[in-house]
Amino acid sequence: MQIVKTVAAMQSLAKKWQRAGVKIGFVPTMGYLHEGHLSLVREARKRVGKNGKVVVSIYVNPTQFAPTEDLSKYPRDLKRDLESCRAAGTDAVFTPTDKEMYSRWGESLSSPDSKKYLGSTESRPTTNYSTYVVEEKLSRAMEGASRPTHFRGVTTIVAKLFNIVLPDVAIFGQKDFQQAAIIKRMVADLNFPVKIIVAPTVRERDGLAMSSRNKYLVGDLRRQATVLWCAIQIARATVKKSKTFPAAKLKDAIKKLVECEPDAKLDYVEFFEPEILLPVSIVKSGTQMALAVFIGKTRLIDNVRI
Ligand code: PAJ
Repeated sequence: MQIVKTVAAMQSLAKKWQRAGVKIGFVPTMGYLHEGHLSLVREARKRVGKNGKVVVSIYVNPTQFAPTEDLSKYPRDLKRDLESCRAAGTDAVFTPTDKEMYSRWGESLSSPDSKKYLGSTESRPTTNYSTYVVEEKLSRAMEGASRPTHFRGVTTIVAKLFNIVLPDVAIFGQKDFQQAAIIKRMVADLNFPVKIIVAPTVRERDGLAMSSRNKYLVGDLRRQATVLWCAIQIARATVKKSKTFPAAKLKDAIKKLVECEPDAKLDYVEFFEPEILLPVSIVKSGTQMALAVFIGKTRLIDNVRI
């Protein structure tokens, strides 16, 4: 397994594979890998076959974190991640530095005004960086409403990674449903020559969706976190019983359920059309449900097809 740290080295490796007609499968991650991530690596291998190459990127992308969020605390364990990647049959891991990804123009160009132009969401590694990819429709609701600059950071880094890794196929998790929908839209709108595959959410035995942030759930918070899965089960059971159900009533019931837990606070719950992400007023089989819940200070998300 190759460990690649620079953009130039990754691009030349990818170009070499491309010239040889070797298919490239790509799994972008922010590391602290768990079974959910590794299921995407296995899916990538399935898609490119044994003669293809699987690339995993491990990069905690600063532009998708707001200043108030957990960028500096985001869990990291590169040594363990590299072992997991190796065991899952990865051919190359791309682990760039912030400087490599966002400071190509160096610190010398920074001006006292740059913060003003780039907005206060910018942290230092991106002071001199000035080109972003913005999806303008699917990014507005849910995660985009709660985290206004988040998807701009995601689309920008994923576009950059696609230009660096040159994948034929890239695998994303259903766990981040809105993210996957936005990436699909970006790829279609900007004609990236890459096929996007969305793979199912991997869960703990009690239904909690695997997430790097689950590490923050200590003591009773871990138990309380199962309330997301409970809410999903209740929504599913309600719709199964009555075939159709008013979204507003179901949202109220879910808010009450979530807030029975002492440290849980509902950020949002939404019912929407899975393709276009538009909210529905009547929930039925095939409606997509997504929710975000604070468990203590940790914000967890989940979603399912009803
Ligand atoms: P990260 O949260 O590390 O997730 C990397 C990929 O793993 C995403 O496609 C995500 O949906 C998927 N994933 C996470 N938990 C999963 C689970 N329980 N089951 C299945 N898949 C799961 O998402 C990001 O990083 C970043 O936004 C990124 C796309 C890398 C851009 O920085």
